[in-house]
Amino acid sequence: MHRIVFASQNPGKIRELQALTADQDIEIIGLNDLGRAFAEPIEDGETFLENATIKAVQYAKETGLHCLADDSGLIVDALDGRPGVISSHFAFDGNTEGEAAGLSRQERDDRNNARLMHDLEGVADADRTARFTCTMVLASPDGQVLAHTQGDFEGRIGQPGDVPRGDHGFGYDPLFLVAPDYTRASAELAPEEKNSMSHRAKAVGAMMQKLASVFNDS
Ligand code: IMP
Repeated sequence: MHRIVFASQNPGKIRELQALTADQDIEIIGLNDLGRAFAEPIEDGETFLENATIKAVQYAKETGLHCLADDSGLIVDALDGRPGVISSHFAFDGNTEGEAAGLSRQERDDRNNARLMHDLEGVADADRTARFTCTMVLASPDGQVLAHTQGDFEGRIGQPGDVPRGDHGFGYDPLFLVAPDYTRASAELAPEEKNSMSHRAKAVGAMMQKLASVFNDS
């Protein structure tokens, strides 16, 4: 049995990975399962791949286990790819300290969504195309990157009055109309439906395929 620590404190994400690896010779655990605290890596990369690599390598070395990490965000074409790697702190231009540090996740999401709608004021439907993207990295205990994968989820940002919509999901989901018909916001998808088509599902699925060969070769 190969033990892999997933660099996340999010129980939902950990459970999802455990379900996806259930038929493989792989045990996924979360950082919390290791019973001690770890220094949080500074995610100062300029790309999703850099940030996921920073997390995977640091936690692999600290735990002495193979480590999987992901990094995700929203890319909006009309904003030259913003918010991108600063998606979780877009309203604060990526600054994670000061005012942003005192807010709950929901308050931060609300501020980010308001900022996104503001920056897209007056932009026509056809130019509001966007995608969620997710990059996953697997690192070995000595800090080597063994594999990385990526997945996208296409859509566009709705117009004021049409969005926000839906009660599911998190972050930008109430604003994100899912391609190709743009009739439903991703916050209107049931969790199982979103999990079957999302950027994260695609990146995880591709990583699961690679895991088998990484461990068969070692
Ligand atoms: P993280 O990779 O979990 O840190 O997510 C980064 C940020 O990207 C989140 O805080 C959200 O703002 C945004 N994001 C990533 N994935 C999604 C999604 O599936 N729905 C809505 N927002 C997302």
